[in-house]
Amino acid sequence: MNRLRAVWLAVVLALTLMLSSGCEQAKQQEEKQSLRIGVSLYRGDDTFINNIRAELEKTAKAYEQETGVKIKLDVQEARGNQNTQNNQVERFISLGCDVLCVNMVDRTGASAIIEKAMTAGVPVIFFNRQPVDEDMDRWDQLYYVGVDPKESALLQGKIVVDLYRENPEALDLNGDGRISYVLLEGEPNHQDSMIRTEWSVQTLKDGGLPIEKIAGGIANWERSQASAMMEQWLEKYPGPVELVISNNDDMALGAIDTLDRKGITSVCVVGIDGTAPGLEAVKAGKMCGTVSSDKEQYARAIFSMAVDKAMGQDIRPELELENGKYYRCPQAIIR
Ligand code: GAL
Repeated sequence: MNRLRAVWLAVVLALTLMLSSGCEQAKQQEEKQSLRIGVSLYRGDDTFINNIRAELEKTAKAYEQETGVKIKLDVQEARGNQNTQNNQVERFISLGCDVLCVNMVDRTGASAIIEKAMTAGVPVIFFNRQPVDEDMDRWDQLYYVGVDPKESALLQGKIVVDLYRENPEALDLNGDGRISYVLLEGEPNHQDSMIRTEWSVQTLKDGGLPIEKIAGGIANWERSQASAMMEQWLEKYPGPVELVISNNDDMALGAIDTLDRKGITSVCVVGIDGTAPGLEAVKAGKMCGTVSSDKEQYARAIFSMAVDKAMGQDIRPELELENGKYYRCPQAIIR
């Protein structure tokens, strides 16, 4: 009798377990019909980041229409404040986000966000502002999407080297055998400004260009700061500036604003990003070239990685992640 009761209990237990795991699966299936993605931007007024945001929103809409899966893309701006961003991430987690996409304010301070995400089991796709390796290696559910800054710099350098080989006078405006240049740098701790600065100049040297640096300074990716800096340089150094190398398009456009105001038209200005206004300036002949990252592909990579993770799946292999976690967006010269 006792044995019979034990067998019954075992059967009831097994049935209960099967039913509850069935419910769990059904719940997951149901959840997969709607995904919540929390996106935090370091600032909302950065031209390049806004281009990526627009593409991300477009991609999410197209995915919703194609698949019928509802996407709740919650985009917040951290206004350059790391605490604000940490709070946004906390809120995303408490709202039940399936995945987070984070454009760090301070790329060296990702550990607080990683801790929160790890504890809640929510994967994170960082983008554009790359956390340090030590942080990226803390969990296997951390990913990064960005451009390869050395490649941006090599391509930017190539624009200038090619121009010089085609027509040296286009760069050596006063014919003194030297190309006098100024350099506009982005934020000091940003991986893109450090590496771009180093390798753009190195590419010109490697190409054998007779360059001479007149001045350089940090304009934090910003058009107005770059414009003010250019103004100061033109006043301080009366000899002609023949080339402006800028870590991004917005600062290149700032330099052009000043050159325009002064009626100077012959200076070659090169940027990086291929933002909408940057591409327009190249087309209008105001900028001699830029390195454009494929924004559509950039956003598609962030979005598809986010969806894969939100669905509890592996990242699709066609993205060919470097070391299983880094995606580098393709870039091309526009001139
Ligand atoms: C760089 C980009 C800049 C700026 C910055 C923000 O990659 O070239 O224009 O957007 O990221 O982190």
